[in-house]
Amino acid sequence: MKNAQDFSAQTLLVTGARPRPVTNAPLNEPVVFSSTFVGTGSDSGEERTYGRYANPSWDGFEDLLGQLEEATNPAILFSSGMAAVAALTALVPFGGTVVVPRHAYQGSLVLFRQQEEAGAIKLKSVDITDTQATIAALDGADLVLLESPTNPMLEIADLAALLRAAREAGIISVVDNTFNTPLNLRPLELGADVVVHSVTKYLAGHSDVILGAVLTSNDELYAKIRNHRALHGAIAGPMESFLALRGMRTLALRLRAAEANALQLADFLSQHERIGEVRYPGLPSHPQHELATELLGGYGAILTATINPRPGQSLVAAADEFIAALQLFTPATSLGGVESLVERRRRHQGEPESVPENLVRISVGIENGAELVADVAAALE
Ligand SMILES: Cc1ncc(COP(=O)(O)O)c(C=O)c1O
Repeated sequence: MKNAQDFSAQTLLVTGARPRPVTNAPLNEPVVFSSTFVGTGSDSGEERTYGRYANPSWDGFEDLLGQLEEATNPAILFSSGMAAVAALTALVPFGGTVVVPRHAYQGSLVLFRQQEEAGAIKLKSVDITDTQATIAALDGADLVLLESPTNPMLEIADLAALLRAAREAGIISVVDNTFNTPLNLRPLELGADVVVHSVTKYLAGHSDVILGAVLTSNDELYAKIRNHRALHGAIAGPMESFLALRGMRTLALRLRAAEANALQLADFLSQHERIGEVRYPGLPSHPQHELATELLGGYGAILTATINPRPGQSLVAAADEFIAALQLFTPATSLGGVESLVERRRRHQGEPESVPENLVRISVGIENGAELVADVAAALE
């Protein structure tokens, strides 16, 4: 039998994390609904004690994501992506400095901003497309959180250079890999210490669960994050864990289908007179297209476009009118599901003012690509 690492991610996604194939065994791991586990009656020899520390229903997902990210430890599953991001605070000393992209996911930005207001950390916000400025900001920092592409500006960072600089400076580096998934980027291979995911998005893939995960091959950091999960208690439910593993089985098919649609849509939008700027890392007009091509196994399926207002129309009204006219794109936040979603990002408090008022973010799904383009064309009429 080959080692798991000898198989492609596409095969691992389907064959990994299954019970041994013995007669009468279930094909899928059963879901375990139990808050506690029978002990030995003494203080040794127990693999599991209480459901806040371990649950067999987490194991399959954690093992499989660990293999996909090529981590030496399993993933650590959390109740949400934000619980996973919040667990990073366990790695920063009181009063320590955290570096974040100025266009990071707004939930992460608000969390760290509130920590700064409470005096727990100092925050430095950087333009991650400016490699030299970002490296300069690492001076004296304790942890750097990187996103590439950023959400929602879809900027691409020179991750290899930034992660090398963080390692040389002895700073803990974290990459939020939600937009890429391990199919398009494996940050640990590039030298990241920690990876975080909103499992809610592409990994689970069906907009029916909220979960998060942290990965690291560093045993000390692994122990700290697990300890944080056990004590802060943001654990995954058994049913959500099952749904995430089931959803992840089709990740390779879903992601590639959504990417093909995203490229088709980005191409169409970039030639339309009612559109100002289209951002999609797969378009040659994207400012970091070459870097994206060098670093990523695929360009993902998120794109943004600014909608030009009609004469006398406000920027907000232009975006709202476009969204209301769409039929196949549901106006909803979130991304990474099989269905296409659209939203004007500045409707969220906490979204930086550098994100244009008329910017819409589209999470492209796996519907028929030509029908998606036709729907957008009709909405722009
Ligand atoms: C890049 C990124 N990181 C983290 C999160 C937070 O994840 P969750 O919503 O699962 O808590 C999100 C959610 O939108 C995200 O887009």
